[in-house]
Amino acid sequence: MTQSNGRNALITGANKGIGLEIARQVGKNGHHIFLGARDPDRGEAAASTLRKEGIEARFVHIDLNDPATITAAAAEIARFNDHLDVLVNNAGIGDAGDGSPGTADISVVRRIFDTNFFGSLAVAQAMLPLLRKSVSARIVNVSSGLGSLTLNSDPDWEFASFKPIGYSASKAALNMLTVHLAAALKLEGIKVNSADPGYTATDLNHYSGAQTIPEGAAAAIRLALLGDDGPTGGFFSVARPEPW
Ligand SMILES: NC(=O)c1ccc[n+]([C@@H]2O[C@H](COP(=O)([O-])OP(=O)(O)OC[C@H]3O[C@@H](n4cnc5c(N)ncnc54)[C@H](OP(=O)(O)O)[C@@H]3O)[C@@H](O)[C@H]2O)c1
Repeated sequence: MTQSNGRNALITGANKGIGLEIARQVGKNGHHIFLGARDPDRGEAAASTLRKEGIEARFVHIDLNDPATITAAAAEIARFNDHLDVLVNNAGIGDAGDGSPGTADISVVRRIFDTNFFGSLAVAQAMLPLLRKSVSARIVNVSSGLGSLTLNSDPDWEFASFKPIGYSASKAALNMLTVHLAAALKLEGIKVNSADPGYTATDLNHYSGAQTIPEGAAAAIRLALLGDDGPTGGFFSVARPEPW
């Protein structure tokens, strides 16, 4: 069994992909893991996998498109702990109906925003009372280089030809949530940062990404475990600060 460090963490969309690896590594660091997932069977299975690896993990039902599950998740966490130390807003979607701003299906764009931006905002709001009770809370928003206005404006950027308006704009909005929340919470010592995983082979891109899942999870893990001397209000890949 992993030695507990007395801290706890909620990771959304943690039943697979980058989220599951964040849960695994933050758990191995000694955090008790609240493993957020929208599907109870997949969530329970992932939590059970982590427990077999010696990690204290408990499934929490959170569907970013269902506000009642978010409220209930905060109440459930509060029953186990009077505080929350780490929130990783990892859950996110892309959609084949997304695409160029001239042609993308607007209902698809709205659906992507509902999950990637409004869902993450709702989770952050619901968890704030618990995060405020931590002595050193961290919030990590799992963003994307596709959410960078600067990189999208560079015609020589390696992903310059890939411009799904819904996904990219939702991640740019998530980055704004990082900046605003970091400013609002700075005096309370709560650090808020965006992570850029990099192009990682997961279900999201039908395993076309160049990086492994542990490589994709590394930036968010580092930000989840930031020391008190770490930054707030920034956007980071594992290698460097990324431009907004
Ligand atoms: N892979 C990349 O190259 C890459 C690059 C940059 C950023 N990212 C970001 O990294 C994060 C993780 O993505 P991934 O690559 O690991 O993709 P993934 O394997 O498809 O995992 C996405 C996770 O989000 C969950 N999810 C989706 N909609 C949800 C909702 N409404 N409520 C709760 N959970 C929901 C999924 O649950 P189900 O299993 O139930 O569908 C799954 O657990 C996302 O925010 C993504 O945008 C990924």
